[in-house]
Amino acid sequence: MQDALKFWNSAAEKYAKSPISDMDSYEYTLGRTKSYLREGDHVLEVGCGTGSTALLLADNVAHITANDLSGNMIAIAKRKAQEQDIANVDFVASDMFDPSIGKDTYDVVLALNLIHLLEDTPAVMKRFGALVKPGGYFISKTVCKPGKGLPFKFRMMLWALPLMQMFGMAPFVKFMEITELESHITKAGFKILETGNHPVAPPSRYVVAKRLA
Ligand SMILES: C[S@@+](CC[C@H](N)C(=O)[O-])C[C@H]1O[C@@H](n2cnc3c(N)ncnc32)[C@H](O)[C@@H]1O
Repeated sequence: MQDALKFWNSAAEKYAKSPISDMDSYEYTLGRTKSYLREGDHVLEVGCGTGSTALLLADNVAHITANDLSGNMIAIAKRKAQEQDIANVDFVASDMFDPSIGKDTYDVVLALNLIHLLEDTPAVMKRFGALVKPGGYFISKTVCKPGKGLPFKFRMMLWALPLMQMFGMAPFVKFMEITELESHITKAGFKILETGNHPVAPPSRYVVAKRLA
């Protein structure tokens, strides 16, 4: 956990400045996510980074609690909320397992580009199961195991990953098969409603799941 905190704190300024790599995929999944939101909803985003998505969704719901492990990510997110004059998003710096974010349950919980960065997927999914109200939605995007036809840039990145991790230049990451990811989601008490790969390679699996009663 300390390693992850150190990595994401040092990555925050650069992360804030990096452009979205596939804007069409981002806008498509943002639109699909909006279609599940209602104006009275209380939403939790876990691992919100610098808050861009939470701020884009703020208008569609009553309130968003946006959490991230990294205090530096949260500081940038708070600054952006102030600049954009958005008052219904609370940014909270803590680990997703911290009891401070587990006091309530939420209509919708978002985990975007997060699950592949966490080691214990069953424990992570159990946590999400406890955070979503029965009948509520869990919406996630997770980079999964690449198949054939991976762009050269990513092949090089995969090759260099262990070395970069050794020197603290990359975080922990594990690429599950899509079937494995979806089995973890259903085992945690969810029914999968919608899926897609956005982008396609490496597959960033978009999953909308409903919490069973
Ligand atoms: C790849 S970034 C994704 C940020 C944002 N969701 C997005 O899609 O741009 C992953 C984020 O997850 C956060 N994170 C990693 N482990 C976490 C944990 N245990 N609890 C909460 N956030 C965590 C990191 O600090 C980082 O900001």
